[in-house]
Amino acid sequence: MNNEFINPGMVPQRILRSGDKMPGIGMGTFGSDRFSAEEIAATVKGAAETGYRLFDCASVYGNENMIGEVFGEIIQSGIKREELFITSKVWNDMHGKGDVLLSCAKTLKDLRLDYMDLYFVHWPFRNFHPKGAAPDYHNSDARPFSIEKYMETWYQMERLQKAGYVKNIGVSNMTIPKLKELMKYCTIMPAAHEMELHPCFQQQELFAFCVDKGILPIGYCPIGSPNRPERDKTAEDYSDTEEPVIVEIAKAHNVHPALICLKWAVQRGQTPIPFSVDRKKYVSNLRCVVEDPLAEEEMKKIEGVDKNCRLIKGQVFLWDGAKDWTELWDEA
Ligand SMILES: NC(=O)c1ccc[n+]([C@@H]2O[C@H](COP(=O)([O-])OP(=O)(O)OC[C@H]3O[C@@H](n4cnc5c(N)ncnc54)[C@H](OP(=O)(O)O)[C@@H]3O)[C@@H](O)[C@H]2O)c1
Repeated sequence: MNNEFINPGMVPQRILRSGDKMPGIGMGTFGSDRFSAEEIAATVKGAAETGYRLFDCASVYGNENMIGEVFGEIIQSGIKREELFITSKVWNDMHGKGDVLLSCAKTLKDLRLDYMDLYFVHWPFRNFHPKGAAPDYHNSDARPFSIEKYMETWYQMERLQKAGYVKNIGVSNMTIPKLKELMKYCTIMPAAHEMELHPCFQQQELFAFCVDKGILPIGYCPIGSPNRPERDKTAEDYSDTEEPVIVEIAKAHNVHPALICLKWAVQRGQTPIPFSVDRKKYVSNLRCVVEDPLAEEEMKKIEGVDKNCRLIKGQVFLWDGAKDWTELWDEA
């Protein structure tokens, strides 16, 4: 057990605009429809034992109640609440006036917490799709992004922060045009942006925009989500862990290519939130960011790997008349 422990004090830290500190790497809790809530909760417990302090939750993952039991145990075992950094997200069917507050209350109850460290709007659309929807699923009630609708939700997020139920608020799956609209009307700026980030999808412009505005980038699918659900796979997708440059650097460091993706992410300045139920893998994911950093030339080489390869396209959120998924990302 002891050689599996990574001192959380050694893990790089990020500072949010509120002054709060957040670990520079965390653990995701979405099991890609492959693992039960019990398995994911057990993984969270193991991860806390081995030194993880940041956990990325969401109501839509359907496991917050089980994870909450584990948070209770973790805190009883002697890890203080202030040492943990816990995030969650309001799902698309709970946007709008009263529902954000209800959703937050439910998540706090499920997670057995008095407050969350960071609370996100999971997607900028209210559009609903059922669990496990096929890639061609279409909801005729779906609508394009509307800043008026988004602000109804965001102002509720601001209320939650002012009331102390959440310490920081953030956005997820946004674009520069949408962020610019939000910034015109918000009274509290987003503290973080949870977005897809991996070597084959670096979102350089959006990343730089966020950093410039003091919005911390949190990177999901940091390893390229090799076991993501079938609905999120297409023939054109690249595999980060098979990219020749990543494989070559992995050989030089004598580690799995997944760890090169994570070292790169942390050194670049985003906060990756990888997921695995495999203890050996999640321990190595945390350990790799406190030892044997990448050289500047390696970081530069990885910059050249970018393929603009978005994996989570969000096509199930499309509305009537939309051209294709690129419209969700203001690219069409
Ligand atoms: N905000 C959003 O809209 C959003 C969207 C997607 C995801 N997320 C968050 O991001 C988290 C991570 O995303 P993700 O799980 O899809 O992608 P990921 O972390 O890039 O990939 C996870 C996969 O990588 C493999 N893996 C992990 N560590 C490894 C290692 N050391 N060596 C080899 N393989 C390794 C795992 O394989 P095994 O399973 O075989 O161990 C797992 O299947 C989610 O859990 C969720 O919290 C947020």
